Amino acid sequence: MKVKQCDLKYIGTNFSHYPMDGKPEIAFAGKSNVGKSTLINAILGRKALARTSSQPGKTRTINFYGVNDMMYVVDLPGYGYAKVPKSEVAKWGQMMEEYLTRREELRAIILLIDIRHEPGKNDIMMYDWLKHFGFDIIIAATKSDKLNRSQIPKQLAVIRKTLKLQPQDVLIPFSGEKKTGVEELWAEIEKFLPG
Ligand code: GTP
Ligand code: MG
Repeated sequence: MKVKQCDLKYIGTNFSHYPMDGKPEIAFAGKSNVGKSTLINAILGRKALARTSSQPGKTRTINFYGVNDMMYVVDLPGYGYAKVPKSEVAKWGQMMEEYLTRREELRAIILLIDIRHEPGKNDIMMYDWLKHFGFDIIIAATKSDKLNRSQIPKQLAVIRKTLKLQPQDVLIPFSGEKKTGVEELWAEIEKFLPG
């Protein structure tokens, strides 16, 4: 997809804040600090539209980026950041469950997994949760620039095995730094968008 126009349109924590125009949306989920906001900037071709930070827990709301006036790219708050108080975790759970179970505009989820590490307990839970809700899932294995070429296929195999990916689940190595995987990811996303 050629991104001609994009901007942050809505920020929210419950349904009353989300867009009501019925445009399809694709959401990005993953552990805190895995690179969701960085990936969104890379696929939108913008340097700092989505706020990124080396400190985990930067994105705490659901952020809707309008693209070409025909869809939304949705940045979800990350999970698994140890320093978040329990009350925040509960709020996160409620917000995510409501969004994932009731949002009819949501076409597909991209789950981000750090390519360097075996997926953790929270990643497995998130994948299983998404499968349970019946989503088609695309996995982006982020920070691939941090590995050398020969390590990449090995780590992809670890991710496939640990998450018990189904054959139809797509797994794409991605680097926000080098912009690798941008085209591949768009090709997958476009399958969920109208003509
Ligand atoms: P939260 O909003 O806290 O959930 O984090 P996030 O998943 O949005 O992560 P963010 O995009 O803010 O990135 C976290 C850190 O990882 C930042 O310091 C980024 O520069 C770095 N980072 C993200 N993607 C990449 C990548 O592909 N390669 C490298 N080398 N660093 C990356
Ligand atoms: Mg973020």
